[in-house]
Amino acid sequence: MTSEKTMDLANVRRQYEKGSLKLEQLHQDPFLQFRQWYSDAESACRFFPNNVVVSTLDDDLQPHSRTVLLKGLDEKGFVFYTNYQSRKAQQLKSHPRGAMTFFWEELERQVNVCGTMERVSEAESDAYFATRPRGSQIGAWVSAQSSVISGREELHRRQAELEKQYLDKTVPRPPHWGGYRLLPQRFEFWQGQADRLHDRFEYIRQDDASWLIQRLSP
Ligand SMILES: Cc1cc2nc3c(=O)[nH]c(=O)nc-3n(C[C@H](O)[C@H](O)[C@H](O)COP(=O)(O)O)c2cc1C
Repeated sequence: MTSEKTMDLANVRRQYEKGSLKLEQLHQDPFLQFRQWYSDAESACRFFPNNVVVSTLDDDLQPHSRTVLLKGLDEKGFVFYTNYQSRKAQQLKSHPRGAMTFFWEELERQVNVCGTMERVSEAESDAYFATRPRGSQIGAWVSAQSSVISGREELHRRQAELEKQYLDKTVPRPPHWGGYRLLPQRFEFWQGQADRLHDRFEYIRQDDASWLIQRLSP
Protein backbone atom coordinates (compact mmCIF):
# COMPACT_ATOMS: atom_id res chain seq x y z
CA MET A 1 0.00 0.00 0.00
CA THR A 2 1.40 3.41 -0.94
CA SER A 3 0.41 6.39 1.23
CA GLU A 4 1.39 10.05 0.87
CA LYS A 5 4.47 9.49 3.02
CA THR A 6 5.73 6.13 1.89
CA MET A 7 6.35 4.43 -1.42
CA ASP A 8 5.82 0.72 -1.21
CA LEU A 9 7.75 -0.86 -4.06
CA ALA A 10 7.79 -4.38 -2.66
CA ASN A 11 5.80 -5.73 -5.59
CA VAL A 12 7.87 -4.10 -8.31
CA ARG A 13 9.71 -7.18 -9.54
CA ARG A 14 11.25 -8.36 -12.71
CA GLN A 15 12.63 -11.59 -14.03
CA TYR A 16 16.06 -11.40 -15.64
CA GLU A 17 16.29 -13.62 -18.68
CA LYS A 18 18.26 -11.86 -21.40
CA GLY A 19 21.41 -13.94 -21.34
CA SER A 20 24.11 -15.60 -19.35
CA LEU A 21 27.79 -15.07 -18.82
CA LYS A 22 30.34 -17.87 -18.66
CA LEU A 23 34.00 -17.75 -17.80
CA GLU A 24 35.01 -19.24 -21.16
CA GLN A 25 33.13 -16.49 -23.03
CA LEU A 26 35.00 -13.68 -21.31
CA HIS A 27 37.85 -11.73 -22.85
CA GLN A 28 41.02 -11.95 -20.77
CA ASP A 29 41.26 -8.18 -21.13
CA PRO A 30 38.39 -6.37 -19.34
CA PHE A 31 38.71 -3.38 -21.69
CA LEU A 32 37.82 -5.69 -24.59
CA GLN A 33 34.98 -7.19 -22.59
CA PHE A 34 33.69 -3.68 -21.88
CA ARG A 35 33.94 -2.70 -25.56
CA GLN A 36 31.93 -5.77 -26.51
CA TRP A 37 29.20 -4.97 -24.00
CA TYR A 38 29.21 -1.27 -24.92
CA SER A 39 28.73 -2.15 -28.56
CA ASP A 40 25.83 -4.47 -27.63
CA ALA A 41 24.32 -1.62 -25.59
CA GLU A 42 24.60 0.79 -28.53
CA SER A 43 22.46 -1.58 -30.58
CA ALA A 44 20.01 -2.50 -27.83
CA CYS A 45 19.42 0.62 -25.73
CA ARG A 46 16.67 3.15 -26.27
CA PHE A 47 18.67 5.77 -24.36
CA PHE A 48 22.29 6.77 -24.66
CA PRO A 49 24.44 3.92 -23.36
CA ASN A 50 27.15 6.36 -22.24
CA ASN A 51 25.20 7.58 -19.20
CA VAL A 52 27.34 6.55 -16.27
CA VAL A 53 27.11 7.12 -12.52
CA VAL A 54 30.39 8.40 -11.07
CA SER A 55 31.05 8.21 -7.34
CA THR A 56 33.61 10.15 -5.34
CA LEU A 57 34.37 10.69 -1.66
CA ASP A 58 34.33 13.83 0.46
CA ASP A 59 36.59 14.52 3.43
CA ASP A 60 34.16 12.80 5.83
CA LEU A 61 34.39 9.74 3.55
CA GLN A 62 30.77 10.35 2.56
CA PRO A 63 30.28 8.99 -0.98
CA HIS A 64 28.58 11.20 -3.59
CA SER A 65 27.23 9.93 -6.91
CA ARG A 66 26.02 11.67 -10.03
CA THR A 67 25.42 10.83 -13.68
CA VAL A 68 27.84 12.06 -16.36
CA LEU A 69 28.41 11.17 -19.99
CA LEU A 70 31.29 8.90 -20.90
CA LYS A 71 33.18 10.69 -23.66
CA GLY A 72 36.08 8.38 -24.30
CA LEU A 73 37.68 5.06 -23.55
CA ASP A 74 41.26 4.22 -24.41
CA GLU A 75 43.81 1.68 -23.22
CA LYS A 76 44.31 3.73 -20.03
CA GLY A 77 40.74 4.33 -18.95
CA PHE A 78 37.33 6.00 -19.00
CA VAL A 79 37.02 9.72 -19.74
CA PHE A 80 34.33 12.25 -18.85
CA TYR A 81 34.32 16.06 -18.84
CA THR A 82 33.28 18.45 -16.13
CA ASN A 83 34.04 21.63 -14.23
CA TYR A 84 37.32 21.52 -12.26
CA GLN A 85 35.78 23.71 -9.54
CA SER A 86 32.70 21.55 -9.07
CA ARG A 87 31.99 19.59 -5.94
CA LYS A 88 33.20 16.36 -7.52
CA ALA A 89 36.43 18.05 -8.63
CA GLN A 90 37.08 19.30 -5.10
CA GLN A 91 36.49 15.80 -3.79
CA LEU A 92 38.84 14.35 -6.40
CA LYS A 93 41.55 16.80 -5.36
CA SER A 94 41.58 15.32 -1.83
CA HIS A 95 40.66 11.74 -2.81
CA PRO A 96 41.76 11.01 -6.38
CA ARG A 97 39.79 7.78 -6.60
CA GLY A 98 36.42 7.00 -8.06
CA ALA A 99 33.92 4.42 -9.21
CA MET A 100 31.68 4.24 -12.26
CA THR A 101 28.48 2.26 -12.73
CA PHE A 102 26.85 1.57 -16.08
CA PHE A 103 23.40 -0.03 -16.20
CA TRP A 104 21.99 -1.16 -19.54
CA GLU A 105 18.45 -2.14 -18.68
CA GLU A 106 17.55 -3.61 -22.08
CA LEU A 107 20.38 -6.10 -21.75
CA GLU A 108 20.01 -6.61 -17.99
CA ARG A 109 23.67 -5.81 -17.63
CA GLN A 110 25.67 -3.73 -15.18
CA VAL A 111 29.36 -2.88 -15.27
CA ASN A 112 31.20 -1.46 -12.26
CA VAL A 113 34.66 -0.01 -12.59
CA CYS A 114 36.83 1.57 -9.90
CA GLY A 115 40.33 2.91 -9.56
CA THR A 116 42.31 6.12 -9.49
CA MET A 117 41.14 9.26 -11.19
CA GLU A 118 43.39 11.77 -12.93
CA ARG A 119 42.91 14.82 -15.11
CA VAL A 120 43.30 14.29 -18.84
CA SER A 121 45.93 16.41 -20.63
CA GLU A 122 45.14 20.03 -21.53
CA ALA A 123 45.48 19.06 -25.19
CA GLU A 124 42.84 16.34 -24.81
CA SER A 125 40.43 18.71 -23.08
CA ASP A 126 41.05 21.36 -25.77
CA ALA A 127 40.39 18.86 -28.53
CA TYR A 128 37.13 17.67 -26.99
CA PHE A 129 35.97 21.19 -26.09
CA ALA A 130 36.42 22.26 -29.71
CA THR A 131 33.93 19.58 -30.83
CA ARG A 132 31.15 20.80 -28.49
CA PRO A 133 28.24 22.83 -29.83
CA ARG A 134 28.75 26.57 -29.31
CA GLY A 135 25.89 26.76 -26.78
CA SER A 136 27.60 24.14 -24.60
CA GLN A 137 30.93 25.95 -24.94
CA ILE A 138 29.36 29.17 -23.67
CA GLY A 139 27.57 27.14 -20.98
CA ALA A 140 30.91 25.91 -19.66
CA TRP A 141 31.89 29.56 -19.02
CA VAL A 142 28.47 30.49 -17.62
CA SER A 143 28.13 27.84 -14.94
CA ALA A 144 30.23 27.86 -11.78
CA GLN A 145 29.11 24.28 -11.33
CA SER A 146 27.90 23.24 -7.86
CA SER A 147 27.89 26.80 -6.45
CA VAL A 148 24.71 28.27 -4.93
CA ILE A 149 22.94 30.75 -7.23
CA SER A 150 20.07 33.18 -6.76
CA GLY A 151 18.03 31.95 -9.72
CA ARG A 152 18.09 31.22 -13.46
CA GLU A 153 18.25 34.98 -14.22
CA GLU A 154 21.84 34.98 -13.00
CA LEU A 155 22.69 32.28 -15.57
CA HIS A 156 20.85 34.02 -18.42
CA ARG A 157 22.52 37.36 -17.65
CA ARG A 158 25.95 35.78 -17.72
CA GLN A 159 25.09 33.82 -20.87
CA ALA A 160 24.08 37.03 -22.67
CA GLU A 161 27.31 38.77 -21.58
CA LEU A 162 29.44 35.89 -22.82
CA GLU A 163 27.62 35.61 -26.11
CA LYS A 164 28.40 39.30 -26.66
CA GLN A 165 32.02 38.85 -25.60
CA TYR A 166 32.58 35.95 -28.01
CA LEU A 167 30.46 37.22 -30.87
CA ASP A 168 32.10 36.04 -34.13
CA LYS A 169 34.99 34.56 -32.13
CA THR A 170 36.00 31.04 -31.25
CA VAL A 171 35.02 30.23 -27.67
CA PRO A 172 38.16 29.11 -25.83
CA ARG A 173 38.05 26.29 -23.29
CA PRO A 174 37.69 27.71 -19.77
CA PRO A 175 40.79 26.83 -17.71
CA HIS A 176 38.44 25.43 -15.05
CA TRP A 177 36.82 22.92 -17.41
CA GLY A 178 38.25 19.62 -18.62
CA GLY A 179 38.33 15.87 -18.40
CA TYR A 180 39.04 13.17 -15.88
CA ARG A 181 40.15 9.66 -16.66
CA LEU A 182 39.33 6.73 -14.39
CA LEU A 183 42.24 4.27 -14.47
CA PRO A 184 40.60 0.98 -13.54
CA GLN A 185 41.99 -1.39 -10.95
CA ARG A 186 38.83 -3.47 -10.84
CA PHE A 187 35.99 -4.22 -13.24
CA GLU A 188 32.83 -6.16 -12.53
CA PHE A 189 30.47 -7.49 -15.20
CA TRP A 190 26.97 -8.43 -14.06
CA GLN A 191 24.37 -10.23 -16.13
CA GLY A 192 20.89 -10.68 -14.68
CA GLN A 193 19.65 -14.27 -14.37
CA ALA A 194 16.49 -16.03 -13.25
CA ASP A 195 15.70 -16.43 -9.54
CA ARG A 196 18.27 -13.79 -8.59
CA LEU A 197 21.11 -16.22 -9.36
CA HIS A 198 22.86 -13.60 -11.47
CA ASP A 199 26.23 -14.01 -13.18
CA ARG A 200 29.03 -11.81 -11.83
CA PHE A 201 32.68 -11.76 -12.81
CA GLU A 202 35.33 -9.47 -11.42
CA TYR A 203 38.68 -8.59 -12.93
CA ILE A 204 41.36 -7.40 -10.51
CA ARG A 205 44.50 -5.79 -11.89
CA GLN A 206 47.68 -7.58 -10.79
CA ASP A 207 51.14 -6.09 -10.22
CA ASP A 208 52.32 -7.44 -13.59
CA ALA A 209 49.36 -5.67 -15.30
CA SER A 210 47.56 -8.95 -15.98
CA TRP A 211 43.99 -9.41 -14.72
CA LEU A 212 42.79 -12.00 -12.21
CA ILE A 213 39.28 -13.10 -13.22
CA GLN A 214 36.91 -14.71 -10.74
CA ARG A 215 33.22 -15.50 -10.49
CA LEU A 216 31.34 -13.91 -7.59
CA SER A 217 28.22 -15.10 -5.87
CA PRO A 218 25.25 -12.93 -6.81
C1 LIG B 1 22.15 12.29 -18.17
C2 LIG B 1 23.07 13.25 -17.46
C3 LIG B 1 24.30 13.53 -18.00
C4 LIG B 1 25.18 14.41 -17.36
N1 LIG B 1 26.42 14.61 -17.88
C5 LIG B 1 27.30 15.39 -17.22
C6 LIG B 1 28.65 15.50 -17.67
O1 LIG B 1 29.08 14.87 -18.67
N2 LIG B 1 29.49 16.30 -16.97
C7 LIG B 1 29.08 16.98 -15.85
O2 LIG B 1 29.90 17.69 -15.26
N3 LIG B 1 27.83 16.87 -15.37
C8 LIG B 1 26.93 16.09 -16.04
N4 LIG B 1 25.65 15.94 -15.55
C9 LIG B 1 25.29 16.65 -14.30
C10 LIG B 1 25.84 15.88 -13.09
O3 LIG B 1 25.00 14.77 -12.80
C11 LIG B 1 25.98 16.75 -11.82
O4 LIG B 1 24.76 17.38 -11.52
C12 LIG B 1 27.05 17.84 -11.99
O5 LIG B 1 28.21 17.33 -12.64
C13 LIG B 1 27.45 18.42 -10.65
O6 LIG B 1 27.93 17.40 -9.82
P1 LIG B 1 28.80 17.72 -8.50
O7 LIG B 1 28.13 18.86 -7.81
O8 LIG B 1 28.76 16.47 -7.71
O9 LIG B 1 30.19 18.07 -8.95
C14 LIG B 1 24.77 15.06 -16.16
C15 LIG B 1 23.51 14.77 -15.61
C16 LIG B 1 22.69 13.87 -16.25
C17 LIG B 1 21.36 13.55 -15.62
